Amino acid sequence: MERELEEGDFFDDEPEMQDDFEKGTGPKLFRYGELAIATDDFSDDHKLGEGGFGSVYRGFLKEMNLDVAIKKVSKGSKQGRKEYASEVSIISRLRHRNLVQLIGWCHGGGELLLVYELMPNGSLDTHLYSGAAVLPWPLRHEIVLGLGSALLYLHQDWEQCVLHRDIKPNNVMLDASFHAKLGDFGLARLVDHGRGSHTTVLASTKGYMDPECMTTGRASAESDVYSFGVVLLEIACGRRPMVTVARRGEEDREDDVIHIVQWVWEFYGRGAILDAADARLEGEFDAREMEAVMVVGLWCAHPDRSLRPSIRQAVNVLRLETPLPSLPARMPVATYMPPPDAFYYTSSVATTGGGSSTITGTGTTVSSTTETSILLK
Ligand SMILES: Nc1ncnc2c1ncn2[C@@H]1O[C@H](COP(=O)(O)OP(=O)(O)OP(=O)(O)O)[C@@H](O)[C@H]1O
Ligand SMILES: [Mg+2]
Repeated sequence: MERELEEGDFFDDEPEMQDDFEKGTGPKLFRYGELAIATDDFSDDHKLGEGGFGSVYRGFLKEMNLDVAIKKVSKGSKQGRKEYASEVSIISRLRHRNLVQLIGWCHGGGELLLVYELMPNGSLDTHLYSGAAVLPWPLRHEIVLGLGSALLYLHQDWEQCVLHRDIKPNNVMLDASFHAKLGDFGLARLVDHGRGSHTTVLASTKGYMDPECMTTGRASAESDVYSFGVVLLEIACGRRPMVTVARRGEEDREDDVIHIVQWVWEFYGRGAILDAADARLEGEFDAREMEAVMVVGLWCAHPDRSLRPSIRQAVNVLRLETPLPSLPARMPVATYMPPPDAFYYTSSVATTGGGSSTITGTGTTVSSTTETSILLK
């Protein structure tokens, strides 16, 4: 049983947090007891789901008259409360109409609890894949633009570059009008400290992760852009990142499974990219928008990270404000050599300045001079 926390637990050594709290500008600190009441003691009935960081519960905060989603994150380390306080206060200062608003937090026992606004339409994956009503194209296109705006804000418009590191349809939440709100931003940063340097691999999800990142374990703005590209292709094609393709003329043989980027790139190379659009839409879409979403998806997921667009360039094309990029007809294969000092470099990033591997002043954690990228066409 968790010990119920007193307010003094938070404020003893964090006078600045208390100031923010009193001014109503910082994150709201909840007592564990309040959140337990809101969720009927975190009962199974209230459970919305479970992810890589912990479980999420639906709750109602009587005092605020507010429906919320409460995420219980197992810390798995003896993370200092002060460190959490500063991380949470950074994250709670992020405000954008396409981000799930963090309302507050509670740090007690072995757990960190994060309180978010409740998203009545759940996450995008259920709408793309549940087999229920087909999500019409105009809503999908709005979701694409909303998600792009959220990333633009995190990467370029806020005072520091905030990397998300786990962009995927499960983390794209939908409000009552099906507007996209990106969730779980900054979460990887919160759990970063206790998990050592190569956290990206642990934090991200296979299929969405920049292949280069899988080897080096280092996140960057470019690796977020890669995951964004994969999500764009999923929204356009209605397919998960791993696509099963039947082998032609070989009925008894096993099917091939290829990555969605490669799958769509083959349609692009044949000059028939629209044939990869979600068949369940039955052709009901604006062809220019669909083509832009798919081509930008490929561009963002370019195997060579140095040839990917910035999120701003990607958004400009998605908004049909700049022309489509011209990509090679065949998907390029990128190979690169991890630098001999990769491990040393990464660990030094994670240990200096309180783990600046997810929020940096420049937007790219890793200097491109530490990597060699050879493009084979
Ligand atoms: N703010 C919210 N409102 C409504 N439902 C939510 C909210 N946040 C999360 N959920 C739901 O809770 C479930 C679990 O979310 P969680 O973030 O723990 O896992 P995930 O997104 O699948 O994976 P990850 O750990 O990589 O984020 C998901 O099904 C999600 O739809
Ligand atoms: Mg999530």
